[in-house]
Amino acid sequence: DPLEPGTTRKGPDRKTAADLRSARWFGPADLRSFGHRSRAMQMGYSPEEWTGKPVIAIVNTWSDLNPCHVHFKQRVDDVKRGILMAGGFPVELPAISVSESYVKPTTMMYRNFLAMETEELLRSHPVDGAVLMGGCDKTTPGLLLGATSMNIPCIFLPAGPMLRGNWQGKVLGSGSDSWKYWDELRAGKITDQDWLGVEGGIARSYGTCMTMGTASTMTAIAEAVGMVLPGGSSIPAADAGHIRLASESGRRIVEMVWEDLTPQRIQSRASYENAIAVAMAMGCSTNAIIHLIAMARRAGQDIGLEDFERYSRRVPVIGNVRPSGNAYLMEDFFYAGGIRALMNEIREHLDLSCVTVTGKTVGENIEGARVYNSDVIRPTSNPIYGEGSLAVLKGNLAPDGCVIKPAAMDQKFLKHSGPAVVFDDYPSMKKAVEDEDYPFTPDTVMVLRNAGPQGGPGMPEWGMLPMPKKLLKMGLRDMLRMSDARMSGTSYGACVLHVAPESYIGGPLALLRNGDIVTLDVDARTINMEVSEEELARRRAEWKAPEPRYERGYGYMFSKHIQQANEGCDFDFLRTEFGAPVPEPAI
Ligand code: FES
Ligand code: MG
Repeated sequence: DPLEPGTTRKGPDRKTAADLRSARWFGPADLRSFGHRSRAMQMGYSPEEWTGKPVIAIVNTWSDLNPCHVHFKQRVDDVKRGILMAGGFPVELPAISVSESYVKPTTMMYRNFLAMETEELLRSHPVDGAVLMGGCDKTTPGLLLGATSMNIPCIFLPAGPMLRGNWQGKVLGSGSDSWKYWDELRAGKITDQDWLGVEGGIARSYGTCMTMGTASTMTAIAEAVGMVLPGGSSIPAADAGHIRLASESGRRIVEMVWEDLTPQRIQSRASYENAIAVAMAMGCSTNAIIHLIAMARRAGQDIGLEDFERYSRRVPVIGNVRPSGNAYLMEDFFYAGGIRALMNEIREHLDLSCVTVTGKTVGENIEGARVYNSDVIRPTSNPIYGEGSLAVLKGNLAPDGCVIKPAAMDQKFLKHSGPAVVFDDYPSMKKAVEDEDYPFTPDTVMVLRNAGPQGGPGMPEWGMLPMPKKLLKMGLRDMLRMSDARMSGTSYGACVLHVAPESYIGGPLALLRNGDIVTLDVDARTINMEVSEEELARRRAEWKAPEPRYERGYGYMFSKHIQQANEGCDFDFLRTEFGAPVPEPAI
């Protein structure tokens, strides 16, 4: 490829119809192409409808069990309208929906499944470019991972956040308020009837979670990295602007094909650093770290935990959206100016020269963006959280790192020492937290292990370990917790997450015992167990690997190839540097 990153084929350099990838299927005067053409005609298309036109895949993650993507059934027609207007030929290719609400044991098992599916759908079909329709947590990284590896022009269409929840006139936020009112119910502060009201009011339109959970974090990252039309990630799913975004994405992708504006030309190291800066300013979900590392590495950019640590110390949280912020939701964020306004506020931390799907730079895309409510999008001089909204910790419990979110926890735990209460599996922990005689104290460091990428399996979002009932009744709402799991972006609390290497494969967390003193010092970025090297060596010699989680099927492949959290949990064989590039299929 003779073109430099960030350059596109403009003017006389643009692609011609003969250059189109799909022309290999439809063009030649041979028997195979006869088959492709006659089968297109079987579907009712005349040759005029496709000949010489970019074929645009619409990779749609709609399903009847994904409430966040319900509207994709209609939106796909809006995307098609845009593609047709611009002279392209749209084809819908459905992909696995990975619904955060229903998929078990955890959607994280299937992010890489969607990534593989996306890459292979695009490779195996006669398509020149793609609109990627996603938004519910893992769908955004899943689609982008695959599209980046395939590297034909792609644009991402985010599902958009749902409207604010409502119950008895109170605003409800996805996830965050379920945890909050669940604890209130357990503490006897609200009635069963109240709880039913919360259930009916918390999710009142289609669209993704409207807190700053993983969905809003990842779509913001997709936009910051340059893969979404400007401002697109902030538009609520139920806003008519979202329909217009869909058709505009369709119009734009056709041009991108002619310009040959591929994901790898857009996704430079600088654009990933922009994404990290934006994630920090948004008060992002901890899940962002895993997904962004995996995505960047597919684009050939070696992003690691240190980059998050660096930007976390530099960029304050200015998006006052729950759970980091205390008041607002994505709908308010949109009215306050949305992501373009936020990016404009932190422009000194961004590389404004990065190219995006518009073919223009980040600087051009955010030109003139304004904040309309400076309590929702704060000036950097009056942030929600000054610096270090996410912290990367290391120590003898996590030699390859782990993560905590100081912006969304009781600040008294930033420096803490306490005795460990350790659980090897979720059911025994669940039982213990309801048992008011279990020896929990306010100082206890509650630990769950075997909850990592292989152990979970799939690193479930268990990391906000439930508060023991006993402590809730004492009026406490936070305690230090630790696991190799993830936590939902809508969660909060003093939860150490993503411990690497995980305990299931013998990481040092596996050696911790009840009563050992665990010491956290967020300022120093350390997490340690106060256990001597000799004692740890003894325990290591005694340690036995647990039974395998899977002995056949997708789970088997998953456990053989999943990488640790600090490497982004990609499959080893999907990494760009794993082997020679996959050739185009023979036709
Ligand atoms: Fe789909 Fe939260 S459940 S975004
Ligand atoms: Mg989530």
